[in-house]
Formats: sequence, structure tokens, C-alpha cells
Amino acid sequence: MAVGQATAVAPANIAFVKYWGVQDAALTLPYNESISMNLDRCLTTTSVQFDSGLETDEVVLKLHGQNELVAAGRPLERVVAQLDRVRSLANVQSRARVRSTNNFPSDAGIASSAAAFAALTTAAATALGLQLSDQELSVLTRRSGSGSACRSIPSGFVHWRNDGTDQGSYAGSVAPPTHWALADVVAVVDPGVKSVTSADNHRLVATSPYFAVRLQEVAGRVDQALTAIRDRDLGQLGIICEGDAVSMHVVAMTAQPPTFYWNAGTMAVIHALRRWRNEGLFGYFTIDAGPNVHVICDQRAAAEMDNRLRSLPEVQFTIVNGPGPGARVIEAGASAMRAEGSRQE
Ligand code: PMV
Repeated sequence: MAVGQATAVAPANIAFVKYWGVQDAALTLPYNESISMNLDRCLTTTSVQFDSGLETDEVVLKLHGQNELVAAGRPLERVVAQLDRVRSLANVQSRARVRSTNNFPSDAGIASSAAAFAALTTAAATALGLQLSDQELSVLTRRSGSGSACRSIPSGFVHWRNDGTDQGSYAGSVAPPTHWALADVVAVVDPGVKSVTSADNHRLVATSPYFAVRLQEVAGRVDQALTAIRDRDLGQLGIICEGDAVSMHVVAMTAQPPTFYWNAGTMAVIHALRRWRNEGLFGYFTIDAGPNVHVICDQRAAAEMDNRLRSLPEVQFTIVNGPGPGARVIEAGASAMRAEGSRQE
């Protein structure tokens, strides 16, 4: 018998100041705070239906450009573990049917797991009638293991605060999407699945001699990024984005074992951006745990930036994003109605 169902949409997000390194892996507590923007065009939609007649959780994934697949192994375990956290809060035993689709390439440095776990947690909590504030939902989402997913819960420009405690590590909005007409033009140089997950590398940070240096710098960058967002100062935000991305990747490249996420296409885009800046077209790079480059620019420059990026032989395709809202419930079944609250659109 069905005991509750809901469907939620959540965005990927791009970090201007990165989360890189976990100090408590069981609770997904980061070493440092981070700053991000939700992406309005990179979305995951997830339906969760709890059913007391089911013996196990059933998870079907429809990833971008791929056939439907029934999740198994580690991806299934991670979904079940997150459903268990939601069930335990709601004091419910029923297993669930989960169906998740996304409209952008997975596992290529476009934060697909962030969108996925934010949508899953929002849908599951709503389906089970949990009345959670944004802060509580962000904490619950963070515990999924994909920490950056907690930043896909609030709207627009987001600050993941962290005082090193479970309840004090959550994301909140610092400005709505309408605050700043910024663009993230994602230049996809390799849509393939990355070989080393960020989860592995979050545990390895302390093996890099440069991690201590990163930690010294990063708190200042968080404050500077907040000021740059407040003042809509692209030049300042660009310096912060590029510096923080390089710092994160230096740590990855010098950890034991090291990871080199960048490829020749990544470098080609970085050099092109520097050339174009000298010509008066201002775009700044940031790069997550993959080779693809996120180009941060003014929305008025986005069409020109997009054309130029697509003209580079190394760029396979682009995705032009603006700032977007956070996770939201788009549909909830009768038994979940009391959970709709403020998150229902
Ligand atoms: O949340 P995770 O475990 O997928 O790690 C995210 C790591 C980066 O995307 C590289 C940085 C970030 O803050 O989003």
C-alpha cells in the first residue's frame, strides 16, 4: 500500500569557493565554508513513492542521453542510505520506488550528485510528511555524503556555513537569483564519467602539503566572495573563482595518490579566456571534479562567450545557465499533503 509520494526538482550548483575536504566523513562535515550559485538549466527531477508492500527500495535512473537503468551497487547503496536517514526522522519503515531523471551529463564536474541528492531528499521528506525548515532540509541533504548537495536546497546565491557541528553545517541563501544577471557557460570538453570520485578525494586532502595553505586562504576568500556578490563585482568574483579553483586542483594534484582532473581541453579554454579578456570579453574559469570548465561572465556577454567557446575545437558542447531557484516540490500525493508547506510551488 502506498504511504506517500512526492516529486521534487533540484538544480546543480557551481561553487565560486569550493568545498574540498571532509573532516568528518560519517556526517559529511567540511573543513571550510563554501559559496555557490544554483544553475537554472541543470536540473534533476526525482519522484519518491513509499509503499509498505515493497520489500526493497527500487531505484531507476534516467541519465542524460542514456537509457533507463535500475541502480545497483554503490549508487543504489547511497540512495538507500539517504532514504534510511529520512525514514528514521519520520519513524517509517516502508521501502520506496525512486525515479530520477536529469537533463545534463552526469559525473563530469557538473555537480550531478548535488542536484540528485537535493531532489531525492526534498521528495522523500515531503512524501513522508516531514515539516522541515530550509535549514533542516539542508542539514539532512548534507548528510547524504554529497555535501555540496546541501547548497542546492536554498535559492540563488548560497553560503554553506560550517561551525564543525552537525546542526551548524548548512547552506542558506545570501541573494535571490534576480540579484545579479550572472551566467555560467559550461564548456564541456569531455562528457565522460570521471574515474576518481570527489568522495574519495575529500578524504585524501590532508595528504597534500598544500592543503594547510589552502585552509589559511579559504576563509578570506569566502568573505571576499560574499562582498563581490553583494556588490555585483564580476572582476573581483572572477579573481576569487580562478584562485580558488586552482587551489583546489593543486591539492588534488598533490594528494597521495594524486588526481589530475584537467585535460588538454581544460587548458585550451583557460588560455582562450585569458586571450579574450585582453580583447575586452570578460569571463573567468572555475572547474569542479572533472575536466569541464565553468565560465562565469555577465549575462550580456553570455551569447558572445558561448559562440567563442563553441568555436574551440576542444569544446564539444556548452550549457548556458543563469542563477536559479533551489530545490522545490512540484507534485505531492494526497498522503503527503500536510508536508507541502512553504516548499510547494
Ligand atoms: O559534494 P561532493 O562530494 O560532490 O563534492 C563537491 C566538490 C566540488 O564540486 C569539486 C566543489 C564544490 O564545492 O562543489
